[in-house]
Amino acid sequence: MIRVSPSILAADFADLGRDIGRIKQAGAEYVHIDVMDGLFVPNLSIGLAPIPCIRKITDLTLDVHLMIEDPDKYIDEFARLGARIITVHQETTRHLNRTLNHIRELGCLAGVSICPATPPETLGWSLGDFDVALIMSVNPGFGGQKIVPSAVKKIAVLRDMLEKAGVAAEIEVDGNVALDTAQEIVNNGARLLVTGSALFKAPDAGAFIRTLKGMEAGA
Ligand code: DX5
Ligand code: ZN
Repeated sequence: MIRVSPSILAADFADLGRDIGRIKQAGAEYVHIDVMDGLFVPNLSIGLAPIPCIRKITDLTLDVHLMIEDPDKYIDEFARLGARIITVHQETTRHLNRTLNHIRELGCLAGVSICPATPPETLGWSLGDFDVALIMSVNPGFGGQKIVPSAVKKIAVLRDMLEKAGVAAEIEVDGNVALDTAQEIVNNGARLLVTGSALFKAPDAGAFIRTLKGMEAGA
């Protein structure tokens, strides 16, 4: 089953409650929250403060994507404030297995993300330690970018690695997931789709999400 995690980076921050209500109404299961520190990525976004406010106004699953250096510093706090999936970047995490295990110990789902230039094989010795692998299909830092085609190929590589190891982790893809890019992403094995600009710009968010979910049949 395909599930959709709208990135609120593309929402109207002055009317976030309304926009989160709309994405739920449109059929999304998650809210994707992009946390940026201006160090790991060349942009700043939101931090801890909005998390409990978002938690209060929605029962959607909070999918927190930490694009920050030294994520270990903040994991406990994101878990306490209501994150359900906490995703760290492989590139920022020195002791990946320890960090992922810690996320699980906090009662959350452990996610690990890789940038377009990072080989999926870097996750080869951690396959049992995460629940979600977030493959970035753009270089992290900004919404509204164009897909990096080679990154899409890595989805199938990781899917095969997981299958061979008998591990049922979910593959999530983030970056320029749109009507013209999603079918290949789904065909390669992703079942959790992050979508920002394309969804928030769509004239009918419900139809957009239904189309994405219907792509599984073509997989
Ligand atoms: C980029 C973020 C993404 C971004 C996706 O660094 O991780 O979640 O908001 O936005 P679109 O769908 O516009 O590429
Ligand atoms: Zn993201």
